[in-house]
Amino acid sequence: MHIDVILGLQWGDEGKGKIVDYLAPQYQIVARFQGGPNAGHTLLFGGKKYVLHTVPSGIFQEGLINVVGNGVVLDPVVFQKELSFLESCAVEYRTRLLLARKAHLIMPTHRWLDAANEAQKGKEKIGSTLKGIGPTYMDKTGRNGIRLGDIVMTGFESYYKQLKAKHLSLLRIYPEVPFDIEQEESVWFESLEKLRKLQFIDCEYYINEAVSEGQKVLAEGAQGSMLDVDFGTYPFVTSSNTVTAGVCTGLGVAPARIGKVIGITKAYCTRVGGGPFPTELEDATGEELRKQGHEFGSTTGRPRRCGWIDLPQLRYTIMLNGVTSLCMTKIDVLDHFETLQAATAYRYEGRETTQLPFDLCKTDVQPVYTTFEGWQQSLADCTTYEALPHNAKQYISSLENVLEVPFDMISTGPEREKLLLKAQ
Ligand code: GDP
Ligand code: IMO
Ligand code: MG
Repeated sequence: MHIDVILGLQWGDEGKGKIVDYLAPQYQIVARFQGGPNAGHTLLFGGKKYVLHTVPSGIFQEGLINVVGNGVVLDPVVFQKELSFLESCAVEYRTRLLLARKAHLIMPTHRWLDAANEAQKGKEKIGSTLKGIGPTYMDKTGRNGIRLGDIVMTGFESYYKQLKAKHLSLLRIYPEVPFDIEQEESVWFESLEKLRKLQFIDCEYYINEAVSEGQKVLAEGAQGSMLDVDFGTYPFVTSSNTVTAGVCTGLGVAPARIGKVIGITKAYCTRVGGGPFPTELEDATGEELRKQGHEFGSTTGRPRRCGWIDLPQLRYTIMLNGVTSLCMTKIDVLDHFETLQAATAYRYEGRETTQLPFDLCKTDVQPVYTTFEGWQQSLADCTTYEALPHNAKQYISSLENVLEVPFDMISTGPEREKLLLKAQ
């Protein structure tokens, strides 16, 4: 009677969507617990690509319930577009998509504030997706936010007006950014109409009752652990708890309810937006990783920064999340490299250590690398873990030795079926 968790161990875009979609048939419920439309989760099956931002990645599995938890921040406009997309794909979602009443709403002025705040930071900007995430979570913790359940309560319009007025006065202290408030607002209110037709739930009761009845629940993380507001590369982070602890607050479940925690990492590392990235490669090798891995953001289309896998960083996020099983994605991207590198320690302040410093932004960290022989062949025809080339298995097992958690799944391509399971 446990909730399993899938989350990203790096800076996001590890391939969470693909793995959730693959494992979803083993569950009855898939639930998003944090983040908002800053996420872009890509699924590929039947020769077609699907990108989801707020809707959980279990939506394409018939009969499966998908929950948007209370820890999520929801933009009705983006959400409505996702629903129209599902309709165009003939996916019946009305009976299978449930929304937590306590999820907070992203207002047009939240997005405006996000843009103004970034403009004020200038060169120091976070590189936010500008979806209004930070300002919405600020209103939630500042006790001013509007929740989904409020939209069917009396007084909603006046809450909205009050909060909007507050945002408008706040905006006066920021640099001006272009924004058509009337137009944005009218689309927002139209989108609310579509939301009102969906099923709202008290997420905490719903999930706990489902688990007690023996239903299997999979919690789907967004972003990555290094973007966690407490433990990530602050202030270059998002505004939610992306780690396992976020499942408890984002769905309303007790820590003892957490079962397996599946941590996802790419076979290398990427980051989009600003902030420290110790193993970043700003050379031809980094460019090659970006090219082979098609490393451009699913939400904003920005080129992702690329570098080698970072084991001290992964050991840190494995610890934070209580990871019980690892999944390595995009190993195929390394197919043509003659040699590969993995950071096994850091050098800073005159010593070598495997611990992250208090502030990665302010500490000059030099990664210490171990080199591995590449396999220099395509993995396209490998249909079992055993069939992987010797050097690929060597790379995986060397990483496992350092990380002390097994790689139970290896993803060799973006398609749903390109997943190798290691015999248990
Ligand atoms: P998410 O945000 O963690 O769900 O990841 P994204 O969807 O933003 O980014 C992952 C990208 O890698 C997507 O374009 C996926 O289609 C793709 N992808 C996932 N797994 C693999 C893999 O094993 N190999 C390759 N080449 N691409 C993959
Ligand atoms: P998925 O779920 C990668 C990054 C942004 C920026 C920082 C803050 O697809 O893995 P925000 O919009 O939250 O204010 O941005 O976090 N970021 C992501 N990077 N994948 C994501 O989500 C991300 N969501 C936010 O680029 O650096
Ligand atoms: Mg993504």
